[in-house]
Amino acid sequence: MTSFLFALLAALLLSLTPPAAWAAQSDRPPTRSAVEPAELARAVAEMEQLDRMRVSLASTLEGSSEEPTLQTMKEVCKPVGLRAMAIGKENGWQVRQVASKFRNPDHAPATAQERQVLDLFHRQPAITGLWQPAGAEQASGVNYYRRINVEPSCLACHGSKASRPSFVKDNYPADKAFDFNVGDLRGMYAVFIPELQQALAEAQN
Ligand code: HEC
Repeated sequence: MTSFLFALLAALLLSLTPPAAWAAQSDRPPTRSAVEPAELARAVAEMEQLDRMRVSLASTLEGSSEEPTLQTMKEVCKPVGLRAMAIGKENGWQVRQVASKFRNPDHAPATAQERQVLDLFHRQPAITGLWQPAGAEQASGVNYYRRINVEPSCLACHGSKASRPSFVKDNYPADKAFDFNVGDLRGMYAVFIPELQQALAEAQN
C-alpha cells in the first residue's frame, strides 16, 4: 500500500507541469508549487481513505435483496460528502466531489479546469490522479484530482433510471447520476491546497 502511494506520488509530482495543450490555454506560465511535498502526499492519502470509505459502505449493500432505504443512503454517499468537507476543514483545504452527471447539484463542475480534468479522466481511463496549478479564479495553490470509478456495488443507486431506489427518485428530482456501467467514470475528488495557509503556518513557527 505504502509503495503504491509512493509510486503514485512520484508519478503525480512528475505531472505537476501541465501538458502543453493546457499550458497554452492558461495565461500564466506553469510554475512548480510552493506547497510542501508532505502536504501533497497527505492529500493523496486522505483521498484514498475517503474513497475506501465509500467502497466499504457500498459493499454492505451487495448481496442484499432489500431496496436501500433513506437510512442506507445516509450510510453511503452522503457521509462521504460530509467527510470530504471535514477533511477540508481539518487541513485548510477545499475538498469537493465533482461529476458531469451529478445527483447533488452542489457537485456540478464549477470551473473550466474541473471540466477539463473530468474530460481527461473520461478519455484516459489509466490516469488515476493528477495535479494542476491553481486556475485563474483561484488563489495561489495546487489542485489535486482523483478519479472515482463505478463498481458493481454502486449500481444499486447509480444503475438504470427505473431501478433507482424511490428515495433517490423522490429526493433528487434533477438527478443525472444514473445509467452507469461498471468501470465508467463516475466523477472525481477535487482538493485545492492553498499556499497561503502554509505561509501562515511558517509565520507562526
Ligand atoms: C444507497 C444508494 C447509493 C449507493 C449504493 C451509491 N451511491 Fe453514490 N450517491 C447516492 C446519493 C443519494 C448521492 C447524492 C448524495 C448527496 O446528496 O450529496 C450520491 C452521490 C455520489 C457522488 C457525488 C456526485 C453526485 O452525483 O452528487 C459520487 C461521486 C458517487 N455517489 C459515487 C458512488 C460510487 C462510486 C458508488 C459505489 C462505490 C456509489 N456512489 C454508491 C446514492 C448511492
